[in-house]
Amino acid sequence: IDPTLDLFDEIERLKEEKNAVLLAHYYQEGDIQDIADYIGDSLGLAREAAETDADVIVFAGVHFMAETAKILNPEKTVLLPDLHAGCSLADSCPPDEFAAFRAEHPDHIVISYINCSAAIKAQTDIICTSSNAEHIVRQIPEDQPIIFAPDRNLGRWLIKETGRDMVLWEGACIVHEIFSEQKLARLKGRYPGAPVLAHPECEEPVLRLADHVGSTSSIRRFAAESDADTFIVATESGILHQMQKDNPGKTFIAAPPDNGCACNDCPHMKLNTIEKLYLCLKHEAPVLEMDEAVRVAALKPIERMLEMSR
Ligand code: 13P
Ligand code: SF4
Repeated sequence: IDPTLDLFDEIERLKEEKNAVLLAHYYQEGDIQDIADYIGDSLGLAREAAETDADVIVFAGVHFMAETAKILNPEKTVLLPDLHAGCSLADSCPPDEFAAFRAEHPDHIVISYINCSAAIKAQTDIICTSSNAEHIVRQIPEDQPIIFAPDRNLGRWLIKETGRDMVLWEGACIVHEIFSEQKLARLKGRYPGAPVLAHPECEEPVLRLADHVGSTSSIRRFAAESDADTFIVATESGILHQMQKDNPGKTFIAAPPDNGCACNDCPHMKLNTIEKLYLCLKHEAPVLEMDEAVRVAALKPIERMLEMSR
């Protein structure tokens, strides 16, 4: 890349030239969030992907998110700046093992968190995100047994919130399982007025210390609406960019991980960079491709989610 190029200008120009829309998740680096047409949580991004009339969707997020956009838009070109941007949670649920697990519970319906591969979505009855999971589980008749996959922490939190017994797949996210309960308790002691905001992918002992548990967009909303001036945030650190922009006078402290590192970056999300974004728009590659039979099977549970979370 020519070092004199203004990548922000170039990306804007290419977006217009190709009638492309740039969708970004809150865990993307700040520069990417700033140049996106839409920034959001997984539900917001899926809705936006379902409604866009752009010819090209550039997805600044991870593979399962770009897959969801493709499932909803088979006729559009979906680009992911780095095709290796995967997800440890999605990887923790291999399709063949999941098929065997389902076969052990033939009378159960399957609710899967959107953080899973298209092959898992194709084996699912209803998709959910952290924004609508509770709302969706509450709509399932009491006598209908449920498998919840792939995130065990979100699953346990839903069982606690709704009182519904569900069979859980034992998957997890490397970023959200790394927070230290002990360090968080100490930090809470040091900032007694600071609400702890946590994502439900965190483990139960961390969620017990939280004042608010919710999706990235609900964490963002809580911080904007609260009278507190300091917050402790237990989720991926990219969200701090918007929270700081929304609330210039407030202080946001990242909850401490257990590994001695200072940050809570998702290594998959952070594979996307502004340079890769520019190159991907310019060359229209890498393109996200998908088997048509898998796509059709994966579409149904996403459509059910969109209907059930209106
Ligand atoms: P939400 O933004 O939907 O809360 O999801 C968080 C996440 O882990 C995405 O990978
Ligand atoms: Fe997957 Fe966790 Fe990264 Fe989200 S933060 S993309 S769940 S590994």
